[in-house]
Amino acid sequence: WPALAADIEAILRLKQERNAVILAHNYQAPEIFHTVSDIVGDSLALAREAVGADADVIVLAGVHFMAETAKLLNPDKTVLIPDTEAGCSLATSITAADIRLLKARYPGVPVVTYVNTTAEVKAESDICCTSGNARKVIESLGVDRVIMLPDEYLARNIAAELPHIQFITWKGHCEVHERFSAEDIRALRENHPGVVVLAHPECPPEVVAEADFAGSTAAMADYVTERQPPRVVLITECSMADNIAVDNPAVDFVRPCNLCPHMRRITLANIRRALERMEHPVELDPETAGRARLAVERMLAVH
Ligand code: 13P
Ligand code: SF4
Repeated sequence: WPALAADIEAILRLKQERNAVILAHNYQAPEIFHTVSDIVGDSLALAREAVGADADVIVLAGVHFMAETAKLLNPDKTVLIPDTEAGCSLATSITAADIRLLKARYPGVPVVTYVNTTAEVKAESDICCTSGNARKVIESLGVDRVIMLPDEYLARNIAAELPHIQFITWKGHCEVHERFSAEDIRALRENHPGVVVLAHPECPPEVVAEADFAGSTAAMADYVTERQPPRVVLITECSMADNIAVDNPAVDFVRPCNLCPHMRRITLANIRRALERMEHPVELDPETAGRARLAVERMLAVH
């Protein structure tokens, strides 16, 4: 604890000295989420908040694609990621060349890309989406066929809600959410009677089918805060439950634990180091960044 307190104190001082803000994803560890973060939220909220960030420096306490998105939206600001190895199995599942091949195969079909991708992949896309707005983004296109990449399960889960649209999908999966099975949910219900099951749409469709509600990390947090279920289980990265349990003392959280190894790379110690040494700034090729920014901005324009 004294080491953590020293890091927290140093980070709070450095934020002022550098005129920096810390954006933290809902999966960050509680000692980051509840202490040094200025803005917390799901991928959509972090992208939106990055646009108006009143700071010279943005530290992204999350994974690399989130820092890239913040940089795309703030080309003139310094965006730091405390560990460059904080990646994502979805982002590594597809390349820009893969998308070019798909576009050649399905000419004229719009490409909707999940934000969990590199800037190069976003640059080949018509519009981005997050789990929080995927359905709205697709409906906004007014088409009967879309290419939705790279998360096969997110695409299939949204496709189930929009049966009039044909979805062409990719084979990417989140290494955290793909581990949950329908059998796990049935066992949880048997062992914890009355438990309300909330699932992230990166889970396989058969898991979402067993859940009471599916939504982004922010939508799950809102569900708990607003409805106060007596007992709940979040079928997602397990730091989420730790973070929202603090503000919901009356809710009993059942906690199976799947951690994201990439999110766990971010620590108080490396956030402190990032601010001390201004490491590691996200740099993007301006031409690629320009095209990727368009896809993100089109997403942000959808309400
Ligand atoms: P959201 O916070 O947008 O729901 O995304 C979840 C996720 O897996 C981010 O890595
Ligand atoms: Fe990527 Fe899954 Fe980790 Fe989110 S939880 S960063 S989707 S690997």
